[in-house]
Amino acid sequence: MRTTRRIFLEQMGWLTAASAAHGAHLMRPASAPPQLLDTRSLARFVNPLPIPAVATPAGTRPSPADPATQIPWYRVVMQQFQAKVHRDVPPTTFWGYNASCPGPTIEARSGQPILVEWVNQLPRQHLFAIDHTLHGAESDKPNVRTVVHLHGGRTGPESDGYPTDWFTAGQSATCFYPNQQDAAALFYHDHAMGITRLNAAAGLMGFYLVRDAAEDGLGLPSGRYEIPLALFDRSFHPDGRIFYPVSTKPEAPWVSEYYGSAILANGKIFPYHDVEPRRHRLHLLNSSNGSYYKLSFSPEDNFTSETLAFHQIASEQGLLPAPAETDLLILGPGERADVVFDFAAFAGKQVILRTDVAIILQFRVSADKSAARSSLPPSLRPVVRIPESAAVRTRELTLADYQNRLGRSSVMLLNGAHWDMPVTETPALNSIEIWSFINLTDDSHPIHLHLVRFQVLDRRPFDVAVYQLTGKIVFTGPAVTLSANELGWKDTVRVDPFTVTRIIAKFEGRPGRYVWHCHMLEHEDNEMMRPYVVS
Ligand code: C2O
Ligand code: CU
Repeated sequence: MRTTRRIFLEQMGWLTAASAAHGAHLMRPASAPPQLLDTRSLARFVNPLPIPAVATPAGTRPSPADPATQIPWYRVVMQQFQAKVHRDVPPTTFWGYNASCPGPTIEARSGQPILVEWVNQLPRQHLFAIDHTLHGAESDKPNVRTVVHLHGGRTGPESDGYPTDWFTAGQSATCFYPNQQDAAALFYHDHAMGITRLNAAAGLMGFYLVRDAAEDGLGLPSGRYEIPLALFDRSFHPDGRIFYPVSTKPEAPWVSEYYGSAILANGKIFPYHDVEPRRHRLHLLNSSNGSYYKLSFSPEDNFTSETLAFHQIASEQGLLPAPAETDLLILGPGERADVVFDFAAFAGKQVILRTDVAIILQFRVSADKSAARSSLPPSLRPVVRIPESAAVRTRELTLADYQNRLGRSSVMLLNGAHWDMPVTETPALNSIEIWSFINLTDDSHPIHLHLVRFQVLDRRPFDVAVYQLTGKIVFTGPAVTLSANELGWKDTVRVDPFTVTRIIAKFEGRPGRYVWHCHMLEHEDNEMMRPYVVS
């Protein structure tokens, strides 16, 4: 039986591609890259790791929730600037909040609202080629458009950075962040319709740390022992400019994924950071456009050396019930993990943060440590599992590739729907729902819902061919056991290839229109994003 969605897709000339050979990607090919900078041969560990500045309020303003109360008001300016990604690379042109990438860290407290005025003082031409065939990026729109989303924030619809709420150079927008949520490491980034991938590639991202008393009471490493660490990969032209590829079609330059040759840590290639032989807390953020990182720590910078144990203490939306010991952390685009690494056994030595294929950062451990104290308590914050029986509805939502019969373009869609089709996901305020993501593609897609925190229920392999023919889910094995670090509160989840991945969420916050999307930004910009309405 054909579903309405299938009929629509057939009428539109889109064919589902997931039944094609695994690994066969139907995306437009990128044109041959020009001569690029060989980042792998750069000298290692010659630049110190930059730590983003902490933002300070520009003053106070009346609260939109209660005009009799003054609340902190920040003013953050998006600017073009130059920075050195490495000692031996000529200066790179970036776009950044307060002319830095990552931008300034905003320190917020749970229950204490703030206002941020986001000011666009960018140039009128973009750094990268815009694809005017993509939704919302048509040539009648200004080239330079921005709108800021606080990723993980329980933010009202007017301040959430809806993709079409963009403003251009010379304009600004003021957002109200109530911070009615638990301590968590959030991040802010650009979300402008059809060019999010390009604005992010240019550098528009920064940390937003929500603190609360319960977390303060745990005595976790803080101050200089607490390090926000944004990881993203870029390739560079020999003159230092960021390289962003284009397709072979000049009128439609979009490419399906962006992977850079070097992973930058807070904007540097192969930096080093001085630490003491004691516990440090790292707020790890994968702010890449499309790369997954398999992160581990090693005592040496070679790939045969052992990996070292560490503890993950929080996922995107805050503390885990207890520290989860591991030696490998997989982070997809948009995902965060808060980890504690104990350098005590490495006095006078070095420790490397790396992926399975690349070196990222060297920690240089001093011989002595200061008198400061920190602890890693055996339990952190209870996370009450939401029972499946509490859900009032389950939505089955596909992730699939589609190709135009004429070969003119290709696209990945959420539940077969384009961005501008009628809203279909309409949870009631405060209701609990299960969203079941059926991944018909051979990619792992990091799926993010705005507004809410959720729990992952499970991930389970199923028969894609049977699903294509009958629309029925036939599981081919048991659910994959979730590891301890996936049992906390999250806002972005890896939906692995050919699995059904289920999440459960309570739609708390404010009614209104939000989005859910794939956080591989090339996918998001090309229809892998849908509006949803909380009513
Ligand atoms: Cu981090 Cu809608 O995005
Ligand atoms: Cu995707």
